[in-house]
Amino acid sequence: MRTVVITGGTDGIGKGLALHHLREGARVFVVGSTPDKGEAWLAEAGALSAGDRARFLQVDLTSVDATGELVEAVRSSCSVVDQLVLCAQRYRLFGPRTVTPDGFEHSFALSYLSRYALGHGLRALLEAAPRPVIMNVGTPGVPLGRMYWDDLQLTRRHSGTKATLQSFRANDLLGVAFPFVHADTRISYIGYHPGVVATGKPAHLPQPLRALTKAGFALFATPVAKAVAPMARLLDEPPGPGFTAHRGSRQLPLKGQPFDPEAALRLHHLTEDLVSRR
Ligand SMILES: NC(=O)c1ccc[n+]([C@@H]2O[C@H](COP(=O)([O-])OP(=O)(O)OC[C@H]3O[C@@H](n4cnc5c(N)ncnc54)[C@H](OP(=O)(O)O)[C@@H]3O)[C@@H](O)[C@H]2O)c1
Repeated sequence: MRTVVITGGTDGIGKGLALHHLREGARVFVVGSTPDKGEAWLAEAGALSAGDRARFLQVDLTSVDATGELVEAVRSSCSVVDQLVLCAQRYRLFGPRTVTPDGFEHSFALSYLSRYALGHGLRALLEAAPRPVIMNVGTPGVPLGRMYWDDLQLTRRHSGTKATLQSFRANDLLGVAFPFVHADTRISYIGYHPGVVATGKPAHLPQPLRALTKAGFALFATPVAKAVAPMARLLDEPPGPGFTAHRGSRQLPLKGQPFDPEAALRLHHLTEDLVSRR
């Protein structure tokens, strides 16, 4: 039986994929921070007669220690992970800079650092799978945002938009770095852009942006069930070891600054240093 771990698996795209995998007979661990959403997901799993294959892990992924405990919890529950899907995110486009108890800027911690820790932390379990894959869901190939190398925590020039976009670019570099750091890896590391998908994401935006985004989603966004179909195909038939980037069914060229290996290794080493000095 395949084992799939999905962060952000209690809502939106992650939840759509989690239910898909349950229907396909996999064992599915979903991670989210809200107990009610976890309970609701478990109830849906029960309704699919898949309750015995469904597990909810309540974790606040903004915390480095909690993410480390999650890695240990997965390690102690199984010896193989076939697919790791990274979807947890919460946009904070407005408002003041928020810092986690570890001292990291919120978007950096949740959207980038937790994905760094989970990909590297669960690598050994993934390497034991026949066709291991990590899918990091974000916006690869979108030419917005950049790394603020001299101030990754945005202490001097914070805005929520800058922080969110920097976390997207950091995830592109995370994927690029992965096969350089683990030269013998068998893991297919996929950076994936799902397009605009009608999830509950607007609920966390302030008004009037919330209403505008909801209206935009109603008109233009792809329903979750449709958006997860190409993701599931890619997860089941991954391209093979190394990093690739995709938008929907289209593979993207790995050109330019967002996919620069030197920048990717620079971020990897800076991150190692940040985590060890915490
Ligand atoms: N929707 C789109 O149009 C779109 C477009 C491009 C890229 N994406 C990417 O696709 C991914 C999924 O997006 P989505 O729209 O499906 O998101 P969503 O519906 O807002 O779901 C976000 C998930 O992340 C979890 N989460 C948030 N904060 C967390 C925390 N501190 N600890 C643990 N889990 C946390 C949420 O659970 P809790 O609420 O319980 O914490 C929820 O399960 C994201 O990476 C996003 O950037 C989405």
